[in-house]
Amino acid sequence: MTVDKTPKKREKELEEAAAQILSHQSRNSEGSFTETSLDGMAVGIDIGTSKIVLAEQTGPRNRFTSQTNAFITVQNSKFTRSILKQNKINHYVTGDNLIVYGDGAEVFGNMLNAETRRPMRHGVLNPKEGSAIEIIKGILDDLVPPPPKDGAHLCFSVPGASNDSETSIIYHEAVLKRHLDEKGYNARSINEGLAIVFSELEDENFTGIGISAGGGMCNVCLAFLSVPVFSFSIIKGGDYIDDSVASVTGEVSTRVRHIKEEEFDFRRSPRNEVEDALCIYYDDLIKTLVQKLKATISKTSKIPKMDKPIPIILSGGTVKPAGFLERFQSFVIKEKFPIDISYIRLAEDPLNATAKGALIAAMSEE
Ligand SMILES: Nc1ncnc2c1ncn2[C@@H]1O[C@H](COP(=O)(O)OP(=O)(O)OP(=O)(O)O)[C@@H](O)[C@H]1O
Ligand SMILES: [Mg+2]
Repeated sequence: MTVDKTPKKREKELEEAAAQILSHQSRNSEGSFTETSLDGMAVGIDIGTSKIVLAEQTGPRNRFTSQTNAFITVQNSKFTRSILKQNKINHYVTGDNLIVYGDGAEVFGNMLNAETRRPMRHGVLNPKEGSAIEIIKGILDDLVPPPPKDGAHLCFSVPGASNDSETSIIYHEAVLKRHLDEKGYNARSINEGLAIVFSELEDENFTGIGISAGGGMCNVCLAFLSVPVFSFSIIKGGDYIDDSVASVTGEVSTRVRHIKEEEFDFRRSPRNEVEDALCIYYDDLIKTLVQKLKATISKTSKIPKMDKPIPIILSGGTVKPAGFLERFQSFVIKEKFPIDISYIRLAEDPLNATAKGALIAAMSEE
């Protein structure tokens, strides 16, 4: 989308947007820290539809840094280029346009009232966006530091297969691996659901079900002693909820997302049409997920004989609203699972758990 405004007004907007991005970036670069006992020189990356998150070790702790996986196209001009450059906002020139990507895209988009676009869709490179690969490479180059030594281990998350996604996952994984290898790492992929098991279930000998409910999809993996027994994905996630609610209420998706992230609470009755629709589509997502999990367990003949019930861990941005856990639990009880579940809980840090699991997997290779 090209933003066309009177030059003075547009220049002012661009300057304001740049200032907002700077303050956003300085908040983001503080990262969040969690304790870990592991030590090493490895890196974990969650390459998600909405966000790319890097997990690194800094002494006894993990540090997380993220960039929004989005971009916006604006008209190329010397003025805009110099604003972007001065403020260190990621961008590149393509013909008459400038592509602004990463965190800057979202803030720029909001300020200029233009929709951001995504280089990924349903967990993989979006074939409908010609610049997808270049944008993801740009975000990765910005986020991922040079390897501490040549061939340092790096794990990046990939989705599990959904009904029709196998071939696109192969391509997505190969393109990203090649790029990360070229940066000097020894890169390998990890299934996103398995990363949740690695992140959260050390005390259970890495045995249980890891679920990551993100923006583009939900990923699920059942692991036994860290070995995946099955994994799958469904292509319903936060984007599906936002778009569905927007289409039935007449709101725009961005506003729905804002309400969902800032105000929505399962524990109280819906206060308006948007909250009512959010409940309906969240329930639909949870039901689809739980039913597919139940069906997959039932049809998997090679499930090892577990000597005790196993846990389910819920992670990803879509599990964040208050009351999500209880809602999910009620659907599991209703469905009567074919295996015994010991407990269901949220991941300690749902937005960073995939990257943390990828880091643990990378460190285990050292
Ligand atoms: N506080 C919140 N409440 C509700 N939803 C949230 C909250 N924070 C983030 N989300 C939603 O979570 C989703 C993003 O989650 P996440 O960052 O785990 O996805 P992703 O890893 O980028 O995508 P995917 O794993 O599907 O490829 C978005 O739909 C976002 O609106
Ligand atoms: Mg994810």
